[in-house]
Amino acid sequence: MASKKLLLLPGDGIGPEAMAEVEKLIAVMNADLGAGFETERGLVGGSAYDAHGQAISEADMAKALAADAVLFGAVGGPKWDPVPYEVRPEAGLLRLRKDLALFANLRPAICYPALAASSSLKPEVVEGLDILIVRELTGGVYFGEPKEIIDLGNGQKRGIDTQVYDTFEIERISGVAFELARTRKNHVTSMEKRNVMKSGVLWNEVVTQTHKAKYADVKLDHMLADAGGMQLVRWPKQFDVIVTDNLFGDMLSDVAAMLTGSLGMLPSASLGAPDAKTGSRKALYEPVHGSAPDIAGKGIANPIAMIASFAMCLRYSFGMVAEADRLETAISAVLDEGLRTRDILSEGKTEVGTTAIGDAVVERFRALSA
Ligand code: IPM
Ligand code: MG
Repeated sequence: MASKKLLLLPGDGIGPEAMAEVEKLIAVMNADLGAGFETERGLVGGSAYDAHGQAISEADMAKALAADAVLFGAVGGPKWDPVPYEVRPEAGLLRLRKDLALFANLRPAICYPALAASSSLKPEVVEGLDILIVRELTGGVYFGEPKEIIDLGNGQKRGIDTQVYDTFEIERISGVAFELARTRKNHVTSMEKRNVMKSGVLWNEVVTQTHKAKYADVKLDHMLADAGGMQLVRWPKQFDVIVTDNLFGDMLSDVAAMLTGSLGMLPSASLGAPDAKTGSRKALYEPVHGSAPDIAGKGIANPIAMIASFAMCLRYSFGMVAEADRLETAISAVLDEGLRTRDILSEGKTEVGTTAIGDAVVERFRALSA
């Protein structure tokens, strides 16, 4: 790849603080490894609303479409609670996902050994956990029409969201899950609510057919999504890859995140389909956590999910597998050393701030790269 164009969208709350730690890594990779990253910046969420009255401007959308990858921080906060629904901070993220056609959201939940004690579950339940949630990201109830509140004229209103899935959407997301399972423990669990929802019946059918037609070598299980949530907290290590729709994936990935000790640990990659000619795909990388307005600007936010999202970017957008491995090893090593932000602090560990964790990761990464 000739150039490596990154668009940085730090967003709101702790987004900019977390992104600053990734910017240090980009600078080091350019200086030490000649990585050749070119970065541009843009506004998204509340910060974009304040500047342009939109959750993302047309100019920044154009930059996102032209970039090889987008790094996204977080959006939202109470400051923007009063803004109209159409331009609320989250609308910027949803537009990026939709317009870039990022249908496959990969959310790995890995419990670093050093953090097993930070989980609200018993250490033996989460220690060594390594699961991957594959969430459908451009369909379902997030985008289905009609989506509205109508006035019934009798003093009542009706709120409507529409859960809708077509065959091709289920085929392509389950294909991504099966392909990834082959590189892991070869086991996919599909979650839906076929006992209540028509879209769940179709989901189940299409996943089963896709499996039979192309991926019969992969072990496939089906689970109702509510039972899946229960099993995730009962014995999460039974799972390898979980494939599920947009809304269930949103909920189940928050549950999975907490298994790993903190929401501040979970990265994600949102990928489009590979281009027929070049094979490259649109991509956006973001931490699963939100903007955490309560701790924003205090220098105590955990930047690890953001840094680990950048590691996913190296791996999936630029084929920099060795560098991604080294970055993940560096994160693990820093945790082994006992450095912790407040969200993952446990007895006997050292509390440090955002920049100290970031600096330690950069230092480790450089040492591993030497
Ligand atoms: C996520 C978030 C988003 C979602 C919000 C911010 C719109 O919760 O990425 O999980 O619901 O998808
Ligand atoms: Mg969510």
